[in-house]
Amino acid sequence: MNKNNIDRRLSIAPMMDHTDKHFRYFMRLLSKHAVLYTEMITTGALIHGDRQRFLDFNDIEHPIAIQLGGSNPNDLAECAKIAENEAYDEVNLNIGCPSDRVQNGQFGACLMSNKNLVADCVNKIQDNVKIPVTIKTRIGIDNMDSYDFLYDFIKTTHDAGCDTFIIHARKAILSGLTPKENRAIPPLNYERVHKIKQDFPNLNITINGGFIELQSIKSQLQHVDGVMVGRVAYQNPFILAEADNILFENTDPAPTRESILDKYRDYVAEQILKGERIKNLTRHVIGLFQGQAGARHYRQLLSAAVPKDKNNIKFLDDIIESITTHTPQIEKK
Ligand SMILES: Cc1cc2nc3c(=O)[nH]c(=O)nc-3n(C[C@H](O)[C@H](O)[C@H](O)COP(=O)(O)O)c2cc1C
Repeated sequence: MNKNNIDRRLSIAPMMDHTDKHFRYFMRLLSKHAVLYTEMITTGALIHGDRQRFLDFNDIEHPIAIQLGGSNPNDLAECAKIAENEAYDEVNLNIGCPSDRVQNGQFGACLMSNKNLVADCVNKIQDNVKIPVTIKTRIGIDNMDSYDFLYDFIKTTHDAGCDTFIIHARKAILSGLTPKENRAIPPLNYERVHKIKQDFPNLNITINGGFIELQSIKSQLQHVDGVMVGRVAYQNPFILAEADNILFENTDPAPTRESILDKYRDYVAEQILKGERIKNLTRHVIGLFQGQAGARHYRQLLSAAVPKDKNNIKFLDDIIESITTHTPQIEKK
């Protein structure tokens, strides 16, 4: 069995089109401890696509997990080896995504109905890498939504070697709902995830779904080993600024919005020099002033089009200047 010594009290969810390396860098400025997940990367994309583009990350991102989408044990093992060679800390299997595209490829949430195939995948990956193999799943799919169904899925895949599960506490409905609806319509059932932890006390269980503030995350830690947050990290990231104080043993002062933005600004400047487009960097910090007076103005500035000849750090510097001088109503902590 894998040694799994990653502290999983808080993790930032895999989110397609959101959790790229720039967003993860930004997250690391908010919490030194949260485990960061990549977007889902399909085995096909990693084996046949622009591999480096998918794999690149900054050293500061550790602990970092790669999330793979696929159902061919050999391909998954090959991708896990590639990720391990790139120094990823964990390989996570996506058994929770309900999108049609993913179902056509026979992976994601539909695999919950094929626990033996998932077990083969875990087994094969385990044989090929030393980093932990983890599963992100739902509490059920369609009418396969009893506690016994979830229990059997966890038991079978645990017997194959997986000892860390991230459970999105709602089932997925595989036809008729969009992925977005599948993150809102099926009701949350935290008790079911708690029961899994009670029935498998030696497993590392992370709960996911619907958490938007640190106190409720902290109270979950009485029931499970960790909490994964998704949308709130994108839409209102500053709620995570005190995560290291509240959830971990950190006693340093929590970062302020301004200190985070200053550090991210330096990162943006570096990345532009490497050829990155500024919009790909600034889009991730649009939520930083969420809920603050002046937030709308800040969002508008960041969302404005950037002409090619203005693709430089001055675009962001002007916004920061505007925040700190012309928009004094934005709280400066
Ligand atoms: C835009 C978006 C993209 C997502 N992409 C993925 C993905 O690639 N892999 C995955 O396992 N879950 C994905 N999810 C689901 C999240 O990881 C998470 O399970 C879900 O949002 C529930 O957590 P939350 O209520 O904290 O947002 C995505 C969610 C969103 C909002």
